[in-house]
Amino acid sequence: MDLPKHIGIIMDGNGRWAVNRGLKRSEGHKEGGKTLEKIALYAKNIGIKYLSVYAFSTDNFKRSEEEVNYLMDLLIYYFNNKLERVCKDNIKVVFSGRRDNLRKDVMEAMDNIILKTQNNTDCVLNICLNYGGEEEIVDASIKLANDLNQGLVKKEDINRDSFYKYLYQDLPPIDLLIRTGKEKRLSNFMLYQMIYAEIYFSDLYFPDFREKDLDDALKFFEERDRRFGGVKTD
Ligand code: FPP
Repeated sequence: MDLPKHIGIIMDGNGRWAVNRGLKRSEGHKEGGKTLEKIALYAKNIGIKYLSVYAFSTDNFKRSEEEVNYLMDLLIYYFNNKLERVCKDNIKVVFSGRRDNLRKDVMEAMDNIILKTQNNTDCVLNICLNYGGEEEIVDASIKLANDLNQGLVKKEDINRDSFYKYLYQDLPPIDLLIRTGKEKRLSNFMLYQMIYAEIYFSDLYFPDFREKDLDDALKFFEERDRRFGGVKTD
């Protein structure tokens, strides 16, 4: 099977999943967390090397303080309580996003999981937290400008490939993007890495997304004819 090396997931629909059941939106995030746990393990077990997930966008700070705090507490819970499992499964956790605006206890939990998983080698789980794709390109450009000013990089060495190392994480481009929750937009997610991503939209709300649904997305990916801007030669 032709597997994508890097899968991105926009985990949308947690709130609607909960509201449809007469529950609070936070219950949807809790279920979404359980779903992510299952999907990340499954993806790693079938041989996916990079998984990037959209946990919290820079614009999600516009939500109520109650919802933002609930999400941050949930993230801390996951980082602290699933650490042992993540290590046992040899998954390396990294983060993409701006650290400013984040609560100190969130940053501490992030730093702890980064440190404890840094030598794991089976799969990289990139958690996009306080993340925006435009912000990532702007932040990378600032780092590049600093390196140029200090003579650490030459203008002629700047190109599409070398720019990756200025992004939050030096990851390969996304091969398959999955967006759940019925909407069909990119929502400022990993714009630079998305150049030739195949995009799979699922009508399921994220808490309902299961391993078999990932299989369906992989089947969709396998059937694509990826030309990367060229033409088919065979
Ligand atoms: C989008 O649904 C989802 C989020 C903003 C949060 C995603 C977070 C998790 C799945 C929690 C666990 C994450 C980690 C990394 C352990 P929405 O609230 O926009 O749903 P709606 O569109 O139905 O309102």
